[in-house]
Amino acid sequence: MGFEEMWAALLPVGRDPVTGGYHRFAWTPPELECRAWFLSEARRRDLDVEHDANGNMFAWWLPDGGSRDAFPAEGAVVTGSHLDSVPGGGAFDGPLGVVSAFAAVDRLRERGARPRRPIGIAVFAEEEGARFGVACLGSRLLTGAIDPARARALTDGDGHTFAEVLHNAGLDPGAIGPDEDLLGRIGCFVELHVEQGRALREPVGVASSIIPHGRWRFDFGGEGDHAGTTRLADRRDPMLPFAGMVIAAREAAERNGTVATVGKVRVVPGGVNAIASSVTAWLDARGPDDAAVRRTVKEVDEAARVAARPHRVSVDLAEESYTEIVDFNAALRDRIAGTLGGPPVLPTGAGHDAGVLAARVPAAMLFVRNPTGVSHSPAEFAEPADCLAGVEALTAVLDDLACG
Ligand code: GLV
Ligand code: MN
Ligand code: MN
Ligand code: MN
Repeated sequence: MGFEEMWAALLPVGRDPVTGGYHRFAWTPPELECRAWFLSEARRRDLDVEHDANGNMFAWWLPDGGSRDAFPAEGAVVTGSHLDSVPGGGAFDGPLGVVSAFAAVDRLRERGARPRRPIGIAVFAEEEGARFGVACLGSRLLTGAIDPARARALTDGDGHTFAEVLHNAGLDPGAIGPDEDLLGRIGCFVELHVEQGRALREPVGVASSIIPHGRWRFDFGGEGDHAGTTRLADRRDPMLPFAGMVIAAREAAERNGTVATVGKVRVVPGGVNAIASSVTAWLDARGPDDAAVRRTVKEVDEAARVAARPHRVSVDLAEESYTEIVDFNAALRDRIAGTLGGPPVLPTGAGHDAGVLAARVPAAMLFVRNPTGVSHSPAEFAEPADCLAGVEALTAVLDDLACG
């Protein structure tokens, strides 16, 4: 199966026929179908499949005579990405890295390459955090960046805990957490990903860094009541400070040179003719440095409290996840840039499993040009020729790192 056939096989999975957006949330039927696709592609190539305790999957191409229990000291070269999506996401964010990884392995084999280090293709679980709220949950658990007890208790929109969902998927929720054996076998991680802004003007680039980013939850508590009979003076309407908080996020971002987004809100009970009893809104804030991001969140929090006071609405703020600046491994990045003949090197505002892995193993990223610059949307795009340039670049990188 070439790149195009693999791409075509995944394309309909979880796609909304009306909007064209993808809904592949971790361990829901479309994402399970993507996982089954991954397993069948791995088996087709005779790769050794490993499921870790955290819901991540690995397909290993072991050197001749090699075994999973006896990796060379320098460890494996691992590539791959994720198969889950945001609500209404694009086709490329995640799957491009996984499909390209299989295609690169095929090219190496066609060329008769004999890896001296294992090559692994990874699929990380719940990268988008679209179901349980914490982005890169699988790689955070693997690397110890989240407390397993906290992860077990995370709930999805229907009230199912992460522990329940793992159990139903045949995994032991008690076993999640850092996996030093697996981390010790990963010599380096190179994730190929579609570029998600307008910064890349050539087919393939290399990442320098990921800007600090995080997610915060604001809970506004008011009093549900009738929309027709409740006098304005008697209302405790949480929608009003919520509206103030959305505007405050934009203004704080402008003041601090950051970006701040309120893209998700839950209104309870959600009736046209009922004053809401509570509103939960999620703030995504990112910026050039920790201080600017922290200041942005603080200013939004203060504005929300000021807006809430006259309406006698309570405000609670909780940090759901935070990732400090990630500077990718300079030696690995330079080596990859050398292999690729000096591609553009660029930072990104998007989070990735490679950024989480970077805390424990040398990590790097290849970006494939996105002509629209749009992502987390059905309009996300990469030209077929650029995708093939990405495969060629990944092939060269794996060849250099694992076979050279
Ligand atoms: C992941 O795609 C993120 O940056 O939110
Ligand atoms: Mn994404
Ligand atoms: Mn992604
Ligand atoms: Mn009525």
